[in-house]
Amino acid sequence: MSEKNIITFNNVDKWYGNYHALKNVNLSIKKGERLVICGPSGSGKSTLIRCINGLEKYDHGEITVAGHSLNHKELHTIRGQVGMVFQHFNLFPHMTVLDNLTLAPRRTLKMSKDDAEHLARDFLDRVHIGHQADKFPGQLSGGQQQRVAIARSLCMKPSILLF
Ligand SMILES: Nc1ncnc2c1ncn2[C@@H]1O[C@H](COP(=O)(O)OP(=O)(O)OP(=O)(O)O)[C@@H](O)[C@H]1O
Ligand SMILES: [Mg+2]
Repeated sequence: MSEKNIITFNNVDKWYGNYHALKNVNLSIKKGERLVICGPSGSGKSTLIRCINGLEKYDHGEITVAGHSLNHKELHTIRGQVGMVFQHFNLFPHMTVLDNLTLAPRRTLKMSKDDAEHLARDFLDRVHIGHQADKFPGQLSGGQQQRVAIARSLCMKPSILLF
């Protein structure tokens, strides 16, 4: 593996029961590279990216992330570096936009409330929804919820962001 590759797939296969969802996938992604994977609905795009942070298991081959082979021992280390914006956003509906953004930095990175809120407001401003910080996700449009999800991922300062 080249040192510059942050994600590699080597001969990766995944089945859902009898359904062969990923067929011998080989790819390498360099640090700083932006890769768009296109394909019809149901072709396996979400499955592929969910394998990168261990939300799905694969059956054959090897995936490496930031030099770590993706196995259970390394999963915690890898997840700390990998952010994900889910297809359906997965915002917490009972929490305000601001609280959605500050939860993980406070709990996981042990950031103070003030620091976490400052960081969150910065990212909300960058995606042009700073004025929606005190609303609940259900009060926002789909695109606005998507921007909240992006800002929430960025608050964890990931080295890899999956969309
Ligand atoms: N948990 C699951 N159990 C069984 N089959 C699944 C599961 N998740 C996905 N599949 C199947 O695997 C295939 C790939 O699904 P996936 O969600 O990766 O597609 P996608 O390319 O992201 O599609 P879309 O563009 O619609 O989001 C689909 O045919 C789907 O029906
Ligand atoms: Mg999908």
